Amino acid sequence: MTSPVTYTVEGGIALVRIDNPPVNAASHAVRQGLVDAITQADSDSDVAATLIYGAGRTFVAGADIREFGKPHQPPRLPDLITRIEASPKPVICALHGTALGGGLELALGCHYRVALKGARIGLPEVNIGLIPGAGGTQRMPRLVGVEKAIDIITSARQVPAEEALEIGAIDAISEEADPKAAGLAFARTILAEKRPVRRTSELGDTIASDADNAALFGSIRQAVTRKARGQTSPLRAVDAVEEGLKLPFDEAMTLEWNIFRECQASTQSKSLIHAFFSERAVSKVPGLEGVEPRPVNSVGVIGGGTMGAGITIALMTAGLPVTMVERDTESLERGRANVERVLDGNVKRGRMSAEKKTSMMETLYRGSLDYADFADVDVIIEAAFEDMGVKKEIFGKLDRIVRDGAVLATNTSYLDINEIAAETGRPRDVLGLHFFSPANIMKLLEIVVAEKTAPDVVATGFALAKRLRKVGVRAGVCDGFIGNRILATYRRQADYMVADGASPYDIDAALREFGFPMGPYQVADLAGLDIGWATRKRLAPTRDPRERYVTIADRICENGWFGQKTGRGFYLYPDGARTGVPDPDVEAIIAEEREKAGITPRAFSHEDIVRRYMAAMINEAAKVVEEGIALRPLDVDMTLLFGYGFPRWRGGPMKYADMVGLDRVLDDIRTYAEEDAFAWQPAKLIVDLVGRGDNFESLNKAK
Ligand code: COA
Repeated sequence: MTSPVTYTVEGGIALVRIDNPPVNAASHAVRQGLVDAITQADSDSDVAATLIYGAGRTFVAGADIREFGKPHQPPRLPDLITRIEASPKPVICALHGTALGGGLELALGCHYRVALKGARIGLPEVNIGLIPGAGGTQRMPRLVGVEKAIDIITSARQVPAEEALEIGAIDAISEEADPKAAGLAFARTILAEKRPVRRTSELGDTIASDADNAALFGSIRQAVTRKARGQTSPLRAVDAVEEGLKLPFDEAMTLEWNIFRECQASTQSKSLIHAFFSERAVSKVPGLEGVEPRPVNSVGVIGGGTMGAGITIALMTAGLPVTMVERDTESLERGRANVERVLDGNVKRGRMSAEKKTSMMETLYRGSLDYADFADVDVIIEAAFEDMGVKKEIFGKLDRIVRDGAVLATNTSYLDINEIAAETGRPRDVLGLHFFSPANIMKLLEIVVAEKTAPDVVATGFALAKRLRKVGVRAGVCDGFIGNRILATYRRQADYMVADGASPYDIDAALREFGFPMGPYQVADLAGLDIGWATRKRLAPTRDPRERYVTIADRICENGWFGQKTGRGFYLYPDGARTGVPDPDVEAIIAEEREKAGITPRAFSHEDIVRRYMAAMINEAAKVVEEGIALRPLDVDMTLLFGYGFPRWRGGPMKYADMVGLDRVLDDIRTYAEEDAFAWQPAKLIVDLVGRGDNFESLNKAK
């Protein structure tokens, strides 16, 4: 097998080129190739300096994540980098694309770094539950100082070349178009100026004052803990920097490696790696390979309410012109105002310039009262009132107006899209595009495929999601699709627990501890309790008589307490506060309703709460997969991660279930079923998987 690393000599400079598509990951073959190349350069008397650069779209984007979990094959990346740094001849690297993780650590081990314009560097290991393990926690502080290094490591952000130069992480930015030319020119300068070999590990000035600064590390640790929300690797990275800087360099490298390996063995890292690959796999829908999406150059949006306005902003931000149609002048004005309010907020927060906002409204936004203005658009997204009659009328009208081949989408969150599609003479062109509020921010887009939706219409949904920088997940038609259907089930269990003795405040606290940014009652207060109330009323006539019904939320709503917007809901929001405080009146209502139902309250520990909540989520999620509403377990995981605040470091409910063991989850479900057999019918899929000793992950691989 030919090596992905090639070695040639040009004018006294060894050219070491890494060519390992798609992102030049530092796989075993790359590491071996680099050791061989540097050994050769060192002994080659014609060589005065060495240049390392990457072929293709990027420098090295990190360790090869696909090798994780397999037995480690030497040379280790840290040893390779130490070897490069030890070279007696200047080693230069030229960075283009993204130098990330192990790729940047390789660069930090070189003696000089030049970057092309537009290149970015970063240490994103914490994104996959790790810390930099090849010197990043030791060399980066020596170049840029402790605070900046820790910011780069714990934020995982990609630092633009200009900033990297300013803080001292790189030495120059080149105007050249390719890394080889940039690196050669820079290497010639180094030689001409007789600049010495400069080993990062031997630099000390930048860290001298900070290395023993316990107060500095104390405040850093506080800030990092707050942001990490239960994720451990960012804090372990701080440990590596703080402890390492007190040690001789080689001992610090051992310390860093040990922490790296500890992180690598953690469930957090496995879950985050699952999230990394699933985020990419979720758009690869079996059966859609090679299907071309339809071109989308303009979009129509029906409705200017919160959803319609959010969708309009998301589309305009992606550069798409939008025609918004409302039913009367007043509604249209309100729609436009909704759009402008959000954009003005962005301007105020410095996320957008005032000129950009004005030009966006002038060039991309068009309001109209006439569906005839949709005649030429490529996609129409209906975000009108959530009522079957209303939607049917709209789709019937659209069918008569829009051009052949236009995609007709509904943003319904639960209605039967087959029924909506049947109102048109072109059900092949109809699908659901279910956005999440606020639609200009939330990353999830459920792409709901109805019975007759054409493959290229589905592909168009995915292409649009990508263009909007959203994560598209394919979903089938059912009440609530993937996300809201699962949500309804675990929310019901939360309500049962409150009825049986837990306080909503305990439930929220337990789930925040688990890693959700907010608990379910905080979310309900934020979204507005009237929404859930309306849904419960809608479902009342068809509710199965065996289903247990809890009346607490209804009592709260009957008081006109709809959450944050009315100043009280499950929580109190005194003087317009954004964070609620527990409300004794709500506790009294709960106590009354318990008494009416003849319930003697019992205690729920945080662990009890999380186990029930998760078991309900996993059980319903398994049914969603079993019925084909979600294609694979990973599709459910991405839905919960990007639409429902599920902690990324737990990978999603299905990954979490695999981690705690599906047999334990099934045991829990069966135990709970003893008190409520109707709510806790185990998913056949879970029973089958446990029976054959398998897990959800096996179903991700199978397709
Ligand atoms: N190891 C193995 N595979 C990797 C990889 C890595 N470090 N980084 C990316 N890939 C794979 C992706 O899985 C994807 O594979 P696929 O085409 O089979 O889905 C392919 O390379 C392209 O990556 P993608 O993310 O789709 O391309 P992009 O141009 O949008 O982004 C990067 C490129 C490098 C910015 C992005 O992939 C990234 O952030 N990678 C991870 C970097 C990292 O965390 N490094 C530290 C590792 S310790």
